[in-house]
Amino acid sequence: MNEITRTLLTAMNSDGAAASGSLVKIVFADKRRKSIEYKKVTLRPVSIRGEYMYQAEFHFDNKVTHKNIPYYEGVDFAEQLILEDFKQINILTEHEDIQILASKPEKPRITSKPAERKAADLSHDRHKSYVLEDGKPCDFLIELGVMSEDGKVFKQHYAKFRQINRFLEIADNCFDVLPSDGRLRIIDFGCGKSYLTFALYYYLKLLRGRDVEIIGLDLKDDVIRFCNATAKKLGYDDLRFLTGDIADYESDGADMVATLHACDTATDFALINAVRWNSRVILSVPCCQHELFSQIHEPVNDPMLKHGIIKDKFTELLTDALRGLKLEAAGYDVKMIEFTSLEHTSKNIMIKAVLDPKPAAMKKASREYEALKEFYHVSPTIDGLV
Ligand SMILES: C[S@@+](CC[C@H](N)C(=O)[O-])C[C@H]1O[C@@H](n2cnc3c(N)ncnc32)[C@H](O)[C@@H]1O
Repeated sequence: MNEITRTLLTAMNSDGAAASGSLVKIVFADKRRKSIEYKKVTLRPVSIRGEYMYQAEFHFDNKVTHKNIPYYEGVDFAEQLILEDFKQINILTEHEDIQILASKPEKPRITSKPAERKAADLSHDRHKSYVLEDGKPCDFLIELGVMSEDGKVFKQHYAKFRQINRFLEIADNCFDVLPSDGRLRIIDFGCGKSYLTFALYYYLKLLRGRDVEIIGLDLKDDVIRFCNATAKKLGYDDLRFLTGDIADYESDGADMVATLHACDTATDFALINAVRWNSRVILSVPCCQHELFSQIHEPVNDPMLKHGIIKDKFTELLTDALRGLKLEAAGYDVKMIEFTSLEHTSKNIMIKAVLDPKPAAMKKASREYEALKEFYHVSPTIDGLV
């Protein structure tokens, strides 16, 4: 065992700094060859769903990528980096800074000095609601202009940043009902610039190490071209974007369907597709529910609905309530949850639907759906959901 391995083992192994919680990070720098594409790698202890791991952050000229490494492979990974790619390691612990200069790995120069800092926060567990952190560079957020190269979220994008994190937090709670192995198929309908689509890929594939195929679909060809080019640039190989109308979309199906502010009846077509495929999870934040505005009519309610602003809000609520009932009638357990707080957007209801067929509940919801529809004299697009 040489000096480098011994030092790494002390810092990373079970009786060392990592397990005792004092390892902060290990930084690999000073490339051995110009041809190495990344200029720095940082290795941090993290805990993902209770599992202790290392997360490697590869810093390229204009992007940062991540890879999770099982705890027991951490030392091998670090050794390989120092032998093949970098000449310098800095190990930062709570109480010590260790520097290894290894132009010649067989004759390393190892120095250390006392330090005073806080140990690594194994943040995936401690701040579940903030999967993506302000201050920590994240490749797709940089690419989409949400944060700067050094990871600072731009002020004008903070609401979007919070929205993405909230969506990931809710999605995370649903992953238990998705197949636990094999390829997960996910579709984001009406993906637009695809912050959410990239976030799902980043979270599932890069942070959780799942085999995924994620598709974003949108009407806008120019946006889709931009998203495909961005995915390619980031090396997100199993993320694809297609131009098309949700209503006409044909596919073998998806385990999970997501929509974030897909306009008006686009949400209905997304729900109809999801149910047709028996998708296990649907997460849908509707918006612009205009369809029923001109249809609603009910003598007792009409005096209230003569005010446009009230009718607008009522239309939204009735539309989503009918969608919820229709999903329940199709065998889904439906929860309407607050997506983000009202101060950020008024479009803040998420329909969370998890497949869990219970015949009696389905029949009841079906009856309630028909009664509500009849009462307000409406025929919504969600009728098409069978
Ligand atoms: C308000 S944007 C939301 C974009 C993205 N989901 C987000 O939250 O950032 C709505 C998107 O839905 C797309 N869209 C609306 N109707 C659609 C349809 N029938 N088929 C596909 N995309 C649709 C629009 O082109 C637009 O990009």
